Amino acid sequence: MAKAAKNNTSKLKFDTINYAPAPESKSSAKIEAQYDLFINGKFEKPSSKKYFDTINPATEEKLSSVADANAADVDKAVKAARTAYDKVWSKMPAKERAKYIYRIARMIQERAREFAVIETLDGGKPIRESRDIDVPLVANHFFYYAGWADKLEYAFPNRSPKSLGVAGQIIPWNFPLLMAAWKIAPALATGNTVVLKPAETTPLTALKLAEIIQESDLPPGVVNIITGAGATGAAIVNHPDINKIAFTGSTEVGKLIQRAVAGTDKKVTLELGGKAANIIFEDAPIDQAVEGIINGIYFNQGHVCCAGSRLFVQESVYKEVMRKLKDRIATLIVGDPMDKNTDVGAINSKQQLETIHKYINIGKKEGLEIFESSCALPKKGFFCRPTLFTNVAQSSRIAQEEIFGPVLAIQTFRTDDEVIEKANNTPFGLSAGVWTDKGSKIFNLTTKLRAGVIWANTYNKFDPTSPFGGYKESGFGREGGLHGLGAYLNV
Ligand code: NAI
Ligand code: MG
Repeated sequence: MAKAAKNNTSKLKFDTINYAPAPESKSSAKIEAQYDLFINGKFEKPSSKKYFDTINPATEEKLSSVADANAADVDKAVKAARTAYDKVWSKMPAKERAKYIYRIARMIQERAREFAVIETLDGGKPIRESRDIDVPLVANHFFYYAGWADKLEYAFPNRSPKSLGVAGQIIPWNFPLLMAAWKIAPALATGNTVVLKPAETTPLTALKLAEIIQESDLPPGVVNIITGAGATGAAIVNHPDINKIAFTGSTEVGKLIQRAVAGTDKKVTLELGGKAANIIFEDAPIDQAVEGIINGIYFNQGHVCCAGSRLFVQESVYKEVMRKLKDRIATLIVGDPMDKNTDVGAINSKQQLETIHKYINIGKKEGLEIFESSCALPKKGFFCRPTLFTNVAQSSRIAQEEIFGPVLAIQTFRTDDEVIEKANNTPFGLSAGVWTDKGSKIFNLTTKLRAGVIWANTYNKFDPTSPFGGYKESGFGREGGLHGLGAYLNV
């Protein structure tokens, strides 16, 4: 049996090496040489007069110049959003608002290929993921919240839910378009208007979305999309006429935002970092579990706040799991994100690659055992080999801090209580995974693990109907599902 598995693996490796390149065509992606700010339904030059480059992290080539909004630009966008809220959007019958959101959803579907290609070019994630996961989820999110728009009194029976006003939304680079959808769709469905800022390394799909919004005839000012880095984000957070801040990103910036809004009546939701535990029991379907672990940490280069970055394996199956895991890592294809066979694409930025290398070096210095894929890496661009550490101590920085890269920290356990204690021993509490054949064990763990989302016998599955969010330093508030409506309403 073991021998057969081994033979299989070496055959797989052989096939992997011989895959012919299968690059996705770039022809569907129209990227302008320069993008301005989308304010009040029009693209406008920034009053800062400044632009910055966004590059393709897989090739280090420049894709476009993007406007760098200053505080005056932010103010203009907030004013447009306020006027649109007061004069049009808050007064429009909900079923009319829903029609616009449905229209946006359909237009995203129609241009799905273009969105997927641009997402991959600008951010480095494999085309297979942007095509099969990100963009379909984006359209589904708009469809889902369009459906709620005229049913809010059923969502919150016996209350009269009221929109908040202008929402300032700041999003990260790991799921650029999906995070824009998570923020914009529920805000519009609940009657709010929006000023959204994408991350500085991945602004292009949000700007493409601005084009769609313009074509959809959504009333001007209902959605404003402005670009820039941290200073632009801070100007949104500090603007006095914003009623709600929704942020996804680092715990560090999340804390800054919390401090900045303290004492104001701005509502806030924060979706921050994570250090999820993926737990494999001896009675788990081991092959599926190994696939789930691979998906949990190497999916999207580990740029996932709910990445299964800590693995706990029950001692009795440790050897088997490690053998299968290493065999599987050896077959992962790392490289050109535009290739349809690629499993692990480019790290989003040079800075993020440096952070990941810093942590790999910390792990080595701590004396942990390291295993990494032996694949060749492209000469240009930012790439990192899928890596794992074993013999990891609870106190190890590799096990405590968010790395946000394809680096897995592995520990063992004997009993349920032991693994619950170890898994909860982290400042974060976003997600977790449990692999076992026993339903009772799943219930026991899901009630005791301090995590907002827990997957059982699967991992990294998303759906617009289910709420997502964390405990402790992973933030507060929920996005998605019915809960996601509440975040944009006074009920
Ligand atoms: P970041 O938190 O700085 O960036 C996220 C967004 O916040 C971007 O749009 C950025 O322009 C904006 N921003 C930055 N400073 C701001 C400020 N003072 N006020 C308002 N907005 C601000 O994250 P960064 O530096 O890109 O990544 C650092 C680490 O954060 C990563 O290594 C990872 O561990 C974590 N991270 C977590 C994410 C998540 O999904 N929870 C997403 C991105 C990063
Ligand atoms: Mg880029």
